[in-house]
Amino acid sequence: MSDFKIIEEPELFKNARKPEGELGEELLDRMNDFHENLAKWGISHLNISKDDVILDIGCGGGINIKRFLEMTCNKVYGLDYSQIAVKKSIDLNQKDINNGRCEIIHGSVCELPFDDDSFDIVTCFETVYFWPDFVNNSKEVRRVLKKNGIMFICNEAIPKKDDDRQKELIDLLDMKIYGEDDFKHHLSESGFSEITCFSKKGPDSVTKEDTDWICAIARK
Ligand SMILES: C[S@@+](CC[C@H](N)C(=O)[O-])C[C@H]1O[C@@H](n2cnc3c(N)ncnc32)[C@H](O)[C@@H]1O
Repeated sequence: MSDFKIIEEPELFKNARKPEGELGEELLDRMNDFHENLAKWGISHLNISKDDVILDIGCGGGINIKRFLEMTCNKVYGLDYSQIAVKKSIDLNQKDINNGRCEIIHGSVCELPFDDDSFDIVTCFETVYFWPDFVNNSKEVRRVLKKNGIMFICNEAIPKKDDDRQKELIDLLDMKIYGEDDFKHHLSESGFSEITCFSKKGPDSVTKEDTDWICAIARK
């Protein structure tokens, strides 16, 4: 079998699942930058009010936490199961951690270290691909949301049958890619209602070629 790879720098990109070590640190810096347009497009679908308490799961390099701190006057939390992501997010948001508006916690979506009914909005950018059990993990997100709270997902890929690069990414990262029907089906199984998806063509953050951006919004 040919060992030709479409993915440039596979050792670096493997860190997208759980950033570790020097390459993990490098990728986190790049993701803060590369995902900017996707994240801003996604956030434009959210009505954030000044008193919303927000949690960003899989916070990576922490840039979305910083964005949310500018949109709400209330507290913003970040959570990631990568130690190095937690450290990067703390470094980036140190000022608001010091003034008590921000907390960044090491933990997994499988068992969120928060009380029931804690958050108005829980966001998940480019992370659900790696969750071990999407339906049960989304139930855990639902548990920590307040009544009428919003779970928000934003990804830069939908399933594509004959896309060799996507196949290679899935193998490299052991990831799952979801489309609109998957989100609607799984999120309703997790107990959510009013599930709405938005999509658009946008540049892939690495190749800059057109890909499909998708975001899903679901209410508790
Ligand atoms: C591709 S990165 C995206 C980072 C950031 N949200 C962004 O958009 O740039 C995926 C992140 O999700 C985190 N992650 C993956 N599975 C997780 C889980 N089960 N619990 C918590 N964090 C997780 C990874 O450690 C990584 O930081």
